[in-house]
Amino acid sequence: MRLRNSNQQWGGVAKSFHWLLAVLILAMFVLGWTAESYPMSPTKLKLFGLHKSTGLVILALVVLRIAWRAFNPAPALPGDTSALERLLAHATHWLLYVLMIVMPLSGWVINSAADFPLKIYGWIRVPHIAPVSESLQSSAEAVHLTLFWIMALLVVIHVAAALWHHFARHDTILRRMLPFTHLH
Ligand code: HEM
Ligand code: HEM
Repeated sequence: MRLRNSNQQWGGVAKSFHWLLAVLILAMFVLGWTAESYPMSPTKLKLFGLHKSTGLVILALVVLRIAWRAFNPAPALPGDTSALERLLAHATHWLLYVLMIVMPLSGWVINSAADFPLKIYGWIRVPHIAPVSESLQSSAEAVHLTLFWIMALLVVIHVAAALWHHFARHDTILRRMLPFTHLH
């Protein structure tokens, strides 16, 4: 398997980042809502611990992913892609990158403002990144929730676009991101 991207296809590293992060982020949506809806209990705290730890791991992975992306140009879009389609694809992808960074940061701010001790998987102690403040905590909660809805909407559009490419446009956009698929 090629690790680097080619002009036609994503390489193994970009694919691994994409699918690992896709699974982790979808898991975070479920974990966030499940933790939120639980009554106060040790299980709720455990679920939140898992949510926050995984969120910080996502933050680290996204930074690495963007660094890899910076040194490894993306495959070209098909020649018949219109200017509008290019703009929409780039805008959605970059917004998703921004959200993958800002979403965990806003969660981290909630946690810091609430003065909640945080250890990644009960193991590495994480410092606060914001002052302890009830009003900051509630604004950060509002931001976290709003960003979630924006991100969920973008993911739906993103997946719909991938399926549209595959089933309506019959191009290689979806296949070139799939694991174990080699295009010539
Ligand atoms: C990509 C990363 C993340 C995603 C997709 C995500 C998603 C969510 C979702 C869907 C909820 C439930 C809805 C809501 O109340 O906002 C939630 C709640 C929450 N998340 Fe995250 N989260 C992420 C990262 C983090 C991180 C890194 C932390 C803390 C270090 C965190 C802390 C919290 C807290 C404290 C709540 C409860 C908020 C409240 O009580 O209103 N999240 N998150
Ligand atoms: C079943 C779910 C998903 C499918 C089918 C899918 C499909 C794809 C495909 C086919 C591409 C390549 C586009 C191209 O070659 O130009 C892509 C890129 C991308 N996907 Fe997904 N994706 C999914 C989930 C997600 C999720 C959950 C996220 C993050 C929240 C995400 C973030 C991205 C980003 C940022 C890119 C742009 C890569 C770059 O240009 O560096 N994807 N996706």
